[in-house]
Amino acid sequence: LFQSSQLRSNHQQRCNFGIAFDIDGVVLRGRVPIGGSPQALRRLYGDSGELKVPYLFLTNGGGVPETKRAKELSELLGVNILPSQVVQGHSPFRNLLKKFENELIIATGKGNPALVMSEYGFKKVLSVEEYASYFDSIDPVSQYKRWTTAPLSDRKAPAVPRYDVFSERIKAAFVVSDPVDWGRDIQVLCDILRSGGLPGDAKRDQPPLYFAADDLEYQAAFPSERLGLGAFRIALESIFNRINPKGLEYVSYGKPNPFVFKNAEAILSQLQSSSCVDHSENNGVSGSHPFETLYMIGDNPSVDVNGARQAGHPWFSILTRTGVFRGKDNHAEFPANLVVDTVEEAVDYILRREY
Ligand code: G3P
Ligand code: MG
Repeated sequence: LFQSSQLRSNHQQRCNFGIAFDIDGVVLRGRVPIGGSPQALRRLYGDSGELKVPYLFLTNGGGVPETKRAKELSELLGVNILPSQVVQGHSPFRNLLKKFENELIIATGKGNPALVMSEYGFKKVLSVEEYASYFDSIDPVSQYKRWTTAPLSDRKAPAVPRYDVFSERIKAAFVVSDPVDWGRDIQVLCDILRSGGLPGDAKRDQPPLYFAADDLEYQAAFPSERLGLGAFRIALESIFNRINPKGLEYVSYGKPNPFVFKNAEAILSQLQSSSCVDHSENNGVSGSHPFETLYMIGDNPSVDVNGARQAGHPWFSILTRTGVFRGKDNHAEFPANLVVDTVEEAVDYILRREY
């Protein structure tokens, strides 16, 4: 087995690789660590807990701010994870701030989607939960629901809306994470989208709609895959296209989009400059220099491997058998550079190859 002292001595010459870990189906299933993930991650730190290998989490999941997710992951995995090491499906929504900072927007999905958007700087955000509560009978079956999708902190929507929702149009809709109440969300989104942002109003041009990711299925705690954001998008799109003359227009973020991998590379470079001291080339000064290899460890061939393949050099894809993919041989349509059983095996391979 690879020794940490060996890592330390050789580390000084090897600053040219980084790792992106998928979360669901690689590192966790539900909230349970899998595939030896805590041990694998520990090997990326030095004896005093300092980061030795630049790495981040590149997940299509989300629903909570990156600061909170980093804290949760640190507790579950037993290492100190920085918010900058957590890239979620919705993280690039930040880049839309210029466009919608002071506009009325809505956000939906599990967790606390409105908080996610507010933390990015959007000033006028309402969750679909809160928005729907202002429109009497907008969800005609709500009286049969004995539950709420609102986060605990947000159970009581103000009696008087914080914004004039009856005359101010919604300027954009964001599906931040997997929706909880598909029926309500499809109904309310259709209302907003076909009326130009004012439910019940006459037909108008559709406001922009953004999805954090487009995963058809993903691996959670249940033995077989669960329907993801992509499945919700198909449901919404099929219905919208039947009730509206013009087809649904939308933009989906997340893997496998190549820009997600470009962004990950930029973040890894920043981590490299702070975590890596290259005595041989930089006279002991920290600094970043081009990566020779960036490893993407994922469980979903059409998302993780496909994305790394499209991103091209310096990405190298490693497929684990702990999630969506369970095949004996490589995946036929999106073959990875390497197939292993677990994330621990993947990290072992990387450290052997690099040192
Ligand atoms: O909802 C989460 C899912 O879509 C995928 O998460 O970590 O496998 O990219 P991950
Ligand atoms: Mg996954």
